[in-house]
Amino acid sequence: MKATAGPAEIPIIGSILDLRRDPPRFFAGLAAKYGDVVRFTVFGREALLFSDPELIKEVLIAQPKNFRKSRGLQLAKALLGDGLLTSEGDLHKRQRKLASPAFAKSRMGKYGDEMVRITREQAAGYAAGETVDANQLMMRLTLAIVNKTLFDADVTGDAPKVAAALEVILNNMDRLLNPFTEIMNMLPLPSTLRLREATESLNTIVYRIIAERRASPEDRGDLLSIFMAAQDEEADGARMTDKQIRDECLTLFIAGHETTANALAWTLYLLAKNPEWVTKARAEIKAVTGGSSLTATHFPQLKILYRIFAEALRLYPPAWTISREASVDTQVGGYDIAAGTTVVMSQWVMHRHPRYWPDANAFDPDRFLPENEATRPKFAYFPFGGGPRQCIGDQFAWMEGVLILAVLLEKFTPQLTAPGYEADIHPMITLRPRGGMPLVFAKA
Ligand code: HEM
Repeated sequence: MKATAGPAEIPIIGSILDLRRDPPRFFAGLAAKYGDVVRFTVFGREALLFSDPELIKEVLIAQPKNFRKSRGLQLAKALLGDGLLTSEGDLHKRQRKLASPAFAKSRMGKYGDEMVRITREQAAGYAAGETVDANQLMMRLTLAIVNKTLFDADVTGDAPKVAAALEVILNNMDRLLNPFTEIMNMLPLPSTLRLREATESLNTIVYRIIAERRASPEDRGDLLSIFMAAQDEEADGARMTDKQIRDECLTLFIAGHETTANALAWTLYLLAKNPEWVTKARAEIKAVTGGSSLTATHFPQLKILYRIFAEALRLYPPAWTISREASVDTQVGGYDIAAGTTVVMSQWVMHRHPRYWPDANAFDPDRFLPENEATRPKFAYFPFGGGPRQCIGDQFAWMEGVLILAVLLEKFTPQLTAPGYEADIHPMITLRPRGGMPLVFAKA
């Protein structure tokens, strides 16, 4: 057994400064310089960066019980309570089981219909030929889709309030990664008060909807109906409490729209830079629909758009890193890991790793042809994580991404605002484009 994990001890000051400036590229630099296992410290805490698919697989799939979510996400509990993203152990297992019917295949068709309908509705208002912030448009769109599939029609009147509150919360989410957050939350800072107000505003709306739905509990085919009806038969048969439903709804609001919106903004940007793929995707849409109106039932046949979206998720993974904290002393791949050590596994690093991706920075959706996919280890590509904590909304997101792109491409051609425009990353909890995503939606 190797007594120490990794060859490199990065000086503490350097690591923090670089980490704050550009963490994805900082991690990529560490992996390129020091290899598959790198040891460094953050605020005096031991951390390991794993950039080997087998080690990542072992942490996420073989040993999930020995690792818990990292400190940042544990702090997010202040906002999200014990929803799927933040809960641990038996509670997580139970909630995941309760929530999973909401993401069953049989539900997806109905969600897909809403995705197409809402995209058409919003796209009708897009200003063709003018510069738009595609990131903002995609946030509005995916929020409307999550609202509709979660709450059916009930939230329509509250949509502006929900959007405003979420904006405050999302803009403050990075605070949750700040080790001083607990102290800051106790101080009456204006940002703390705004955050509290936004959380209360969402709570009021979510609790009201829950109360209304309890009063007339028929199945409306949305996620909320499923949470209301969900029973854990193995346990005591108790339904989810209002607090649990609130936590799950807020979690899904937050986990379920910004990630997909970022992915779509990056995809539209990559399409603007690679117009030959717009032509290919359109030819496929035409062949699949036979010239009739596109519907959610066409989703499984839109294979080129699927590969385009997959390639965008490779180059700009919205969840650009996953961290875990060892809850016990353990070993991974023969390396000793002490309890309390943070293990970082970065999609940004792995998705551009030259060992698995020739010409890694080039946009080439054909990497996701089945014959090419078969040549790579599973955890060279993991935009949705893996193991028991894998994204519960992954199928929802694939469908949403592909259908939104199909509807948009029927109407518009995404174009850069100036030749050679290069978007930069703004790594928050998700990988946003820095300063938004200016694009022109030219008439198709
Ligand atoms: C492109 C879009 C998306 C990406 C890249 C993404 C990525 C991820 C990743 C990497 C995780 C695992 C985090 C970890 O292991 O620490 C995760 C978890 C989760 N995601 Fe997503 N996600 C996306 C869309 C969605 C959607 C649409 C929903 C819901 C409608 C959703 C709901 C969740 C939830 C509830 C969890 C926690 C699951 C658990 O721990 O049991 N996500 N997501």
